[in-house]
Amino acid sequence: MQSTAKAHPNIALVKYWGKADPRLNLPAVGSISLTLRELHTISTVRFGEEIEKDNLILNGRQAADKQVERVSHFLDIIRKMAGIGHRARVSSENNFPTGAGLASSASAFASLTVAASSAAGLNLSPGKLSEIARMGSGSAARSIFGGFVEMKTGQKADGSDAVAIQLEDEHYWDLQLLIAITSEQEKETTSGEGMIHTSRTSPFYGKWLYSSQRDLEEMRAAVFTRNFPRLGEIAEHNCLKMHAVMMSARPGLIYWTPPTLEIIRSIRNMRRRDIPVYFTIDAGPQVKALCTPQAAAEIGKTLQRVEGVKRVIECTPGPGTTLAGN
Ligand code: PMV
Repeated sequence: MQSTAKAHPNIALVKYWGKADPRLNLPAVGSISLTLRELHTISTVRFGEEIEKDNLILNGRQAADKQVERVSHFLDIIRKMAGIGHRARVSSENNFPTGAGLASSASAFASLTVAASSAAGLNLSPGKLSEIARMGSGSAARSIFGGFVEMKTGQKADGSDAVAIQLEDEHYWDLQLLIAITSEQEKETTSGEGMIHTSRTSPFYGKWLYSSQRDLEEMRAAVFTRNFPRLGEIAEHNCLKMHAVMMSARPGLIYWTPPTLEIIRSIRNMRRRDIPVYFTIDAGPQVKALCTPQAAAEIGKTLQRVEGVKRVIECTPGPGTTLAGN
């Protein structure tokens, strides 16, 4: 009754921000992402008769009650599917900062889904795993797959078609993503809370939902034709639009810090010098620079020199979630 799984986070090129149904965690918009090889979460789940209460050890330490509760609710979905009542011991390790806008919830819930379903004796298809992972965290549904992945909003009320699909695998296109780390602190407003707040209070929320359809179509085309300037331009536009809708909530959500703006400026300056680089930013201050392998070394050096940048992590396209043996 014990399994271990390894999952990689993903960074959205067209972002998910908004819930159609918070209970089932159905996304109000589709999204397209790239799974990252160099970052990972390894989770082990053990169900046992002798275990009295669900518990979570996160990066070697006892997790906060709120986190244990979130994992426990999530495990209930798997227990129900498997017809078991056993409580579980879960341990989860990230090789990167947790909760700081680096998509740790994506790899956390993807690894948890695969480890827990296997430990519970379930043998599920990737689509089903993606559906379950979505209930833990929307972006986790994408991390079940490697490479370029699209998350669908689905049509069905029960959410069974709100799942991710792979557009192209991790060997398709050797893009790079450089993450400029500016802060390793956990964010104040989680993505989930931020999305609900935005949908309730931003006057621009409807426009955000509507216009993301076109970004998805154009991004799909950019991926299928391997058109890097197109991919970068759409990713930057979609990212700024997401931050604009967050900022227009009431009170406004601002995830950026001064170094975030300095990095944006540095990336745009590089582009003026014909260096092909574009940015994207999630619900946190870190900036992710998209580039080709040829330009990566120079871009990495430039980003490292920006004031406030602590370090730069170089990432390449990575695989989906795998079971790591029992
Ligand atoms: O999966 P969540 O609930 O942590 O939300 C992810 C939100 C963003 O990272 C900002 C965008 C995305 O599509 O990953």
